[in-house]
Amino acid sequence: MSKIAAGHARKRLIAANWKMYKTIAEAERFMEEFLPLIAGQTEAEAVICPPFTCLPAVRQAVRSSQVQLGAQDVFWENQGPYTGEISPAMLLDLDCRYVIIGHSERRHILGETEANINRKLKAATHAGLIPIFCVGETLDQREKELAREIVNQQLAKGLQDLRPDPLAVAYEPVWAIGTGVNATPEDAQEMIGYIRECLARMYDEDWAGKVRILYGGSVKPGNIASFLEQPDIDGALVGGASLVAPDFASIVRFGENA
Ligand code: PGA
Repeated sequence: MSKIAAGHARKRLIAANWKMYKTIAEAERFMEEFLPLIAGQTEAEAVICPPFTCLPAVRQAVRSSQVQLGAQDVFWENQGPYTGEISPAMLLDLDCRYVIIGHSERRHILGETEANINRKLKAATHAGLIPIFCVGETLDQREKELAREIVNQQLAKGLQDLRPDPLAVAYEPVWAIGTGVNATPEDAQEMIGYIRECLARMYDEDWAGKVRILYGGSVKPGNIASFLEQPDIDGALVGGASLVAPDFASIVRFGENA
């Protein structure tokens, strides 16, 4: 275990990123099936990040449960002439507690810049939302042995002039997202330990020891336990497998019934 990780109790965080999947009716059916499957599970904090259109339905469903609500993106102003955008205030209005920021699909498909990710992290933090800040290298960057440098830059630029507390970071190697090819738990630990060192260097060890750092990229019921065995890995950000209620429930239960 990295020295920084030791001595801090970090509750595990298992977050579902539904991406652009599910209608309202499908979200309601998922929640009806999912909630009983995780009843009594208190070891991990479970978060559902549905599309914006499903936030009210999922909010209603999680009302009397421990499950938290999150969004997949946010804009950096609270209101104004920003067609198509959703503000931190609007997410709070829907009882969102978390928000994913800087996901690689937004970086690579939608051209999200480091400067805008920094603005979003600042706005979310100042509003009281907990960011799930995504970083990770592409296959090309990994093959050129640039993974550490890239992730270090993403952290430095995203968190410039900002120290969110609380903060969650998701290490998601781009080549592992939606491909079925996950990073090995040892490789993920190596990068996540490094991320914690970067955070400690940027600010201080005490804060870095409290940040929850998740792994994301082809997490499934059958491999979640091997990631959570790693000392610096505090949870997972789950795409594909979070769309199927029994699979996501098994992941929230750390691979039980896998
Ligand atoms: P995946 O997606 O679990 O389908 O690989 C992870 C993510 O994009 O957050």
